[in-house]
Amino acid sequence: MNICVVGAGYVGMTTAVCFAEMGYKVRIIDIDEKKISKINEGKIPIYEEGMQELLEKNIERIKATNEYDFSEDIVFICVGTPSKEDGKIELKYVLDAVENVSLKIRDKGIIVIKSTVFPGTTEKILKPLIQKYRKNVSVAVNPEFLREGKAIYDFLNPDRIIIGTDNKRSADLLKKLYEPLKAPILLTTLSEAEMIKYASNALLAAKISFSNEIGNLCKILGIDAYNVMKGVGMDHRISPHFLNSGIGFGGSCFPKDLKALYAGSKEMGYEMNLIKAILKINDKQPLRIIKILEKYIEIEGKTIAVLGIAFKPNTDDIRESRSIPVIHELKRRGAIVRLYDPMAMENAKKIFDDIEYCDNVDEAIENADACLILTEWKEFEKIDFSKMRSKIVIEGRRILKNREGIIYEGICW
Ligand code: UGA
Repeated sequence: MNICVVGAGYVGMTTAVCFAEMGYKVRIIDIDEKKISKINEGKIPIYEEGMQELLEKNIERIKATNEYDFSEDIVFICVGTPSKEDGKIELKYVLDAVENVSLKIRDKGIIVIKSTVFPGTTEKILKPLIQKYRKNVSVAVNPEFLREGKAIYDFLNPDRIIIGTDNKRSADLLKKLYEPLKAPILLTTLSEAEMIKYASNALLAAKISFSNEIGNLCKILGIDAYNVMKGVGMDHRISPHFLNSGIGFGGSCFPKDLKALYAGSKEMGYEMNLIKAILKINDKQPLRIIKILEKYIEIEGKTIAVLGIAFKPNTDDIRESRSIPVIHELKRRGAIVRLYDPMAMENAKKIFDDIEYCDNVDEAIENADACLILTEWKEFEKIDFSKMRSKIVIEGRRILKNREGIIYEGICW
C-alpha cells in the first residue's frame, strides 16, 4: 500500500514519518517549496520530538513534492482548520486539498480526512465535492489524537484507532493499514468519527476546567487541590490524567475545537452550556494570577518577571498560551514585563514588541519585584531567587521544588 499525505504540518509530518517507519512508501504534498526541499534533504520542517530521527531512518521511503499527481491508494488530508472570528473553523484549506486530490487520485482510491472538521462536514460537504469529480473514489474520516511533543509516540502507540467510513472496502483497507500497530480499532460512520475527536477534546478540556474550579475553591478553603485530585483520580472511572489545576489550557487544539463545537451547535439551534462554561472558566483563570499579585504589590511601574510563554513545556508553540492574557493585563496596568522561555522567545516576539526579553532565568528575575511562573519547564523547578528586589513568587503551574526564603503562592494552592 502506498500512502500520500497532504500538508506537512505537525499532524501531516507525524503521519508521514510514522507510516514510513511502519514500512509504507509515503509521498508528502505541500505548497511550501522550502518545506519540500528541507524534507527531501532529510530535515524536518517543524520541531517534534523523535521526528528527525524517523525521517533520516526512513528517507528512502519518503518523498516530498508540490505536485498533485497520484499513484497512491490512500491519501491523508492533514491540512489546518484554524478558528474564524465567530469560533467556527476555516474549511477552505481542506476544501482546496480535497478538490485537488479528487481531480488526480487513481480510481478506487480513498481520501482520508485527518484534519479536524465539524461533525457532518465530510458527509454533507466533502463527499459531494469528491463525487462531483469521481464516482469511484471513497472518503473516510480518521481523526488524530496526537499530543504536541509526544506525537510520534502517540501515533505509534495509540489507545485506539477510529476509522469512519461509508463502505466495507475502505474500512477493510484502512484496518489493514493500521494492523501493525496492534491497537484496538473502532469502525464508525463518517460523522461519528468526526464527533469522537471533538467529544474527546471537549471531555479532556472539561477535566481541566473542572479541576480549576475545584482548585479555586480549595485555595479559598485552604485545602491542597493536588492531593484532592490525586484522591479523585484514583477512581478508575475517572483516571488520574488531566486533573492538574493551574492557569488553564492553551494550544492549537482545545480552545479551537471547543469554540467550534459551541459555535456549530448554536448555529443548529442548540446551545452547549457545558462547553460555554468550560471556555469561560478557562478565559478567567489566567487573570486570577493578577488578583493574587495585587495582594502584595501595586502593579503599576513594577518589574515583573514572567517565566514561560509556551502553552506547555517542550514546545515553542505559544498559540492560545495562557501567558498571553497575563502579559497583556500586566502591560495594561503599567508593569515592566520581563520574559524568559527556553524555546518560545522568537514566537513571543511576534506578539509583544514592548516587553523585555531575557536570555535566562537569572536575567529575568534580577531586581524584579515579583516573578510569575506560567509554564512547567523542568529548568524552573529549582531557581535561586536571591537576586530579586522583593521575593514574591506566584505559580500558575505547580512545579517549584524549593520555596524557602520567598513569599510564595500558587494559583489554586
Ligand atoms: C491535545 C490532546 O491532548 C490530544 O489528544 C489531541 O490530539 C490534540 O490536543 C489535538 O486535538 O490535536 P495538545 O494540545 O498537544 O493535545 O496538548 P495537551 O498536552 O493535551 O495540553 C493542552 C493544554 O492543557 C496545555 O496548556 C496544558 O498545560 C493544559 N493542561 C493539561 C492542564 O492545564 N492540566 C492538565 O491536567 C493537563
